[in-house]
Parts: sequence; structure tokens; C-alpha cells
Amino acid sequence: MPSRARPTITSRSGRLLAWFDRNRRDLPWRARPGEPPDPYRVWLSEIMLQQTTVATVARRWDRFVGRFPDIGTLAAAPWEDVAAAWAGLGYYARARNLHAAARQIAAAGFPPDERGWRALPGVGAYTAAAIAAIAHGQPSVAVDGNVLRVMARLEAVAAPLPASRRTLAKAAATLMADEAARARPGDAVQALFDLGAGICTPRRPACARCPLAGDCAARAGGQQDRLPVRAPRRERPALAGAVFWVEDEAGLVWLRRRPPEGLLGGMLELPGS
Ligand code: ADE
Repeated sequence: MPSRARPTITSRSGRLLAWFDRNRRDLPWRARPGEPPDPYRVWLSEIMLQQTTVATVARRWDRFVGRFPDIGTLAAAPWEDVAAAWAGLGYYARARNLHAAARQIAAAGFPPDERGWRALPGVGAYTAAAIAAIAHGQPSVAVDGNVLRVMARLEAVAAPLPASRRTLAKAAATLMADEAARARPGDAVQALFDLGAGICTPRRPACARCPLAGDCAARAGGQQDRLPVRAPRRERPALAGAVFWVEDEAGLVWLRRRPPEGLLGGMLELPGS
């Protein structure tokens, strides 16, 4: 009699990918299964997601992409239009870099690999790796906070972050090097993102639903709630300042824009000391 049981999947990334195939988040910038990824959407989403939550990006996505559906439109647009469409996504320095990079891409084409992406304004090591894996199917390992947390638990690395970062990145590279992940690098990266966001959460991870629970050294030792360990932050000096609320008779409030570089570059603020 044929068995209904699922065949045993022998590798960790195989289990991760099988879980992803059943549980992947339907995010507006993601290619659907079987659809080729669009490098414009992959790049744009990774820039937006750098310091902004998935939920916020998802809410702003259609408006931005409706206004700038492709690289040519974005590159040709005046800065003011890009800044206006970026509203709500924060950190205008990112939008400036995005606009500058769009002009370079429109002139030279999409970079073919991680190194090429890394050379563009606003694209750091993590973003370049994520784009290379998702857009080009290259075996790059994108390591963000979610991935560090998953790896710290999977391998029960008790050494504190940030010093343990290299160890954890290596462990992620090993996970991504097995056969199943090598066949689908973009999905493997996104599966780790989704696992970190929905199952292997910072607090109270949902181990009962985790495809890697049987592989997880932290879970085996009951350590999952205690990992990863973070070194205590250095004490920061407390700074005091005054902020002014200045309103005219019509009720208009005085806002000013911060300088483009530096902390909260390009964002609106109340005037202050
Ligand atoms: N965080 C960073 N990049 C992401 C992506 N492509 N999908 C979900 N979360 C992410």
C-alpha cells in the first residue's frame, strides 16, 4: 500500500525549504513560486527593509512602485518626487542613495553579482548578499539579526554578540552550503528571514512549529529563550536639549529639515537646541 507519510528530508536546509514552500509569507515584492525574480523589486525592497519593518514597507510598497514601476522611471524622476513617495519610510539618506544608485543602474544595467551590487550607493554587505541570492540565485549568505538569532540557537552558541558574529556567520554559510540550499539560494535566504520573523522569534520562539526543532542544539538543552547572548551595551552619555513648538495664527507648525548627512539625515524635525 502506498504510504502517505512525507519522505524523510535528510538535510537541515531541505527541511527549512520544505517548510518555506508551505509557509512562505506572501509579500508584495516577492516573486511568486515559479516566477522569475525582478532585480528592480528585489533591490528596492531590500533598501526599504534596511531600517524599516516588513509591515511598514508592505503598506507603502504599492504606492511607491505605482509611481516608479521600473528603474528607468525612478532614475528619470526629480529628487522631490522620490522624496515625496518615500514619505513614511524614514531615513531620507536611504532614498538619496536609492535615487543615485537608480541613475547608475539605468546607465550601466543591473549589477550581475554581489560585488557589483556592493559598489552601489546604499548597498552594504548584507544587502548585496541578499540581492545576489534572491535576484540572481547566487549562493551568497545574507546575515542579519534574524539570521544571527537562528544560528545562535541552532548551534547553541553561548558566546555573546557582537563578538560571536563571525562564528554565527560561518554557521549560516555552512547551512547555506548544503545541497538543498545550493539549489535554491534565494528561497533559502528568504526561508531564514521568515523563520526568524515568525517562528524563531526573539522572545518565546514557536519551537513546536519549527522545521529545525530536531536540529536545534539550544532546544535540546532548553536554552532557546536564553540565546543569543548579547554583551551589555556601553553606557551612553545622557544628552539634554530643548525642542520648540512654534505655531502661527493659522495653526501651521514650524518644521525644518535636518542636513542630508548624519543622524536622521534629511528628516523633518521640530526646531531645537
Ligand atoms: N528582511 C530583509 N529582507 C527581507 C526580505 N526579502 N523578506 C523578508 N524580510 C526581509
